[in-house]
Amino acid sequence: MENKKIEIQYFEASSLAELTENDAFLVAKAREASLNAWAPYSKFNVGAAILLDNDEIILGNNQENAAYPSGLCAERVALFSANANYPESVVKTIAITAFNSKGLIKEAAKPCGACRQAILEAEVRFNQPIRLILDGANSIIIMEGIKNLLPLSFDKNDLD
Ligand code: THU
Repeated sequence: MENKKIEIQYFEASSLAELTENDAFLVAKAREASLNAWAPYSKFNVGAAILLDNDEIILGNNQENAAYPSGLCAERVALFSANANYPESVVKTIAITAFNSKGLIKEAAKPCGACRQAILEAEVRFNQPIRLILDGANSIIIMEGIKNLLPLSFDKNDLD
């Protein structure tokens, strides 16, 4: 039996000032998007901003429902909106942030498992890794490609 290892790679910044202007702008857009979240149950307001290759920025935020599973995460709201309205445009970058009752969360916002899978689908669809910017007050994580968060992933190639 072979012992195998998978490496993931990411950059970590401690403030927005360390980011490029474009990345910082996208995070600001995600923060703006979180203000429109509908999250009366969790009071955890998530915002996502997607940069497309046509330079459009698509926003999303979490949309909760009294029937809890009927809601949707910010990342998928943004991603599905981008894919629905600009089906030909490559998803380049997604910035994700979240605010709780105390303000901007301390650690970098991390997409849930289902959102990781949805982001992977967009990578495979457009055949390009998606840059992720995960925002938090003490830590901003930047990574090139969702496989860093989803090793040994399942995609359409596994259906063959
Ligand atoms: N949420 C997101 O919007 N994105 C994630 O990746 C994690 C969780 C939302 C779902 C729910 O509305 C609230 O945050 C608490 O889980």
